[in-house]
Amino acid sequence: MSGEVYAIASGKGGTGKTTVSINLGVSLAGLGNRTVVVDADIAMPNIGLLLGEDKVDKTYHDYMAGHAAIDEIIYEGPGGLKFIPGSLSLENISEVDVVKVVELIESLKDSFDFILIDTAPGISKETAVVLESADNTFLVVNPEISSVVDSLKIKIYVEMKEKNIKGIILNRTKMYQPEPGSEQQENEYEMLQEDITDILETEIYGEVPEDLIIKKSSIHREPSVLLEPGAKASIYFKSIASKLAGYEYDIEHELKPYKVGLLKRIFSFFSLRKDKVKN
Ligand SMILES: Nc1ncnc2c1ncn2[C@@H]1O[C@H](COP(=O)(O)OP(=O)(O)O)[C@@H](O)[C@H]1O
Ligand SMILES: [Mg+2]
Repeated sequence: MSGEVYAIASGKGGTGKTTVSINLGVSLAGLGNRTVVVDADIAMPNIGLLLGEDKVDKTYHDYMAGHAAIDEIIYEGPGGLKFIPGSLSLENISEVDVVKVVELIESLKDSFDFILIDTAPGISKETAVVLESADNTFLVVNPEISSVVDSLKIKIYVEMKEKNIKGIILNRTKMYQPEPGSEQQENEYEMLQEDITDILETEIYGEVPEDLIIKKSSIHREPSVLLEPGAKASIYFKSIASKLAGYEYDIEHELKPYKVGLLKRIFSFFSLRKDKVKN
């Protein structure tokens, strides 16, 4: 069987590509799939750091520069995930031969079910080659206009190369909360999903809410889905991974504790008010 290759891309930096790559990767591995995440962000690699594995010898850069074999750059990550780190040193950067990515992907397809490639933002030469070599691309988009418009360029490029856009991963939804007491609705602070899909002419494959667990996980250097599998963002990541791997996942059931929590908050709010009236 040949593995499925997904480039994880976005028009601008900081939309959550690395966060998505790692958490989807661990979730897919958790479902029993042989999964590897490749750090192809040549200028700012950070997968090794976020996985708590910074003692790596040979990297993606070394392979690209012809200084390492594939076996030497694949490392064991948490939760059964394998990863290919980037290098934090700029030593080999000028020697990087981007065309080697095609060869790398082809050989990873033989040993893995899922190959997720975390890319540098925008369409630099190194990202262009990844987008051309991957069968599918996910656009990691935040619900704000600049992120959406910048991703349009990636979409156009991918389609020009006759490759498939798998869908949008809409990350950091509900980022802007209304002021307490304000009548403004949460969704008035961010773009409507239908406007995002209209502009990009692409379906939203999955959504990940803004969640403090992501920050916590980068401090602990452990993927959120392992650090707190029951956290809201973790549940959404597992739901996306299940969809990709063709498994059922009852997200409503998993999110129940949050809905109960909300009801409890509403009831306690009312009982507080009752107490006030009594006083
Ligand atoms: N769903 C989320 N909730 C909260 N913070 C997030 C979320 N996704 C990403 N972040 C934060 O946003 C920043 C950029 O994320 P990162 O995955 O490094 O983006 P990219 O790889 O696209 O540059 C990081 O500080 C990360 O912790
Ligand atoms: Mg990144």
